[in-house]
Amino acid sequence: MAPEKNQLAYCAGFVEPCAALSTKQEEQIMNAQRDKAPWLKAWLEATELKLEPGASTGQRAYRLVLLGAPGVGKGTQAELLSARLGPCHLATGDIFRAAKALDPAKLSPALKEALEYMHRGELVPDDTVVALVRERAHCLRWPTGFLLDGFPRTVPQAEALEQILSAEGLALDAVLNFESPVELIVARLSGRRTCPKCKAVFHIQTRKPKVDNVCDNCGTQLVIRDDDRPEAIRVRLDVYQKSTAPLVEFYRQRGLLLSIPAEGTPEEVYQLTLAALRKLG
Ligand code: AP5
Repeated sequence: MAPEKNQLAYCAGFVEPCAALSTKQEEQIMNAQRDKAPWLKAWLEATELKLEPGASTGQRAYRLVLLGAPGVGKGTQAELLSARLGPCHLATGDIFRAAKALDPAKLSPALKEALEYMHRGELVPDDTVVALVRERAHCLRWPTGFLLDGFPRTVPQAEALEQILSAEGLALDAVLNFESPVELIVARLSGRRTCPKCKAVFHIQTRKPKVDNVCDNCGTQLVIRDDDRPEAIRVRLDVYQKSTAPLVEFYRQRGLLLSIPAEGTPEEVYQLTLAALRKLG
């Protein structure tokens, strides 16, 4: 069975790596962003994506984890990588945020509890996150690969991922570790604006929307994320150091770590990422 059109629009590759974008290609990427919301809905509700596991678009399928402190730019790079190379983008934070918009009566007790952790800037318990990823394991079988953004975030989550992948007969190609000084990270988080509908990410200085506070993709009013409050940012950075930073060593020991300096513009960081991926062959 072929993937449905709107899923293909987001998950299939559009342009060759590094190719200059024509207006038409830019338009396709914007369309892909608009189609992200129904795709996210499918994740949230854990409905089948009806993809054909053996299907191929002829492009190299990368199976990647994006690692790095909150605000380093993982979501921004995931957006660029997904639109241009086609992997299925699974962002655990996006799934939790989308759950906030649901009727509270429809939320499971575990999901309600997860949202409270998130509001405080703490990590959601491993069991809840792993169950959520397990339910969506079909993303991992996507023919043009996958990008895990915000998962794993602890060593037990990384071990669970190894088990899930091994059960699927799959392996990671690399773990992209985005690195940036903490002052830059705080500046990025403090100026971030996000679209609650299509999840596009903007910044009041470095990635301004065309119209102040309005999403370029879908015209929705942009919002400041609940966990971008200064007190939650502090907690998130501490939690990162304590729980997530050990994953750098975990993946280095497995020979999977690719460190990417993330201080340039989004396009510059994307080009560095691409150069690192090319070395994988
Ligand atoms: P999650 O949504 O994953 O948040 P995060 O890891 O804190 O990462 P962010 O989304 O804040 O930042 P980002 O690196 O994606 O940066 P972005 O591209 O937006 O998780 C949120 C919460 O959910 C967690 O705190 C936790 O409670 C829970 N959770 C999720 N997964 C979990 C798990 N596995 N286990 C347990 N709990 C979990 O960029 C930031 C800003 O900078 C933007 O404004 C952007 O426009 C700008 N920017 C980006 N790149 C550049 C650049 N190169 N130059 C200039 N500006 C840039």
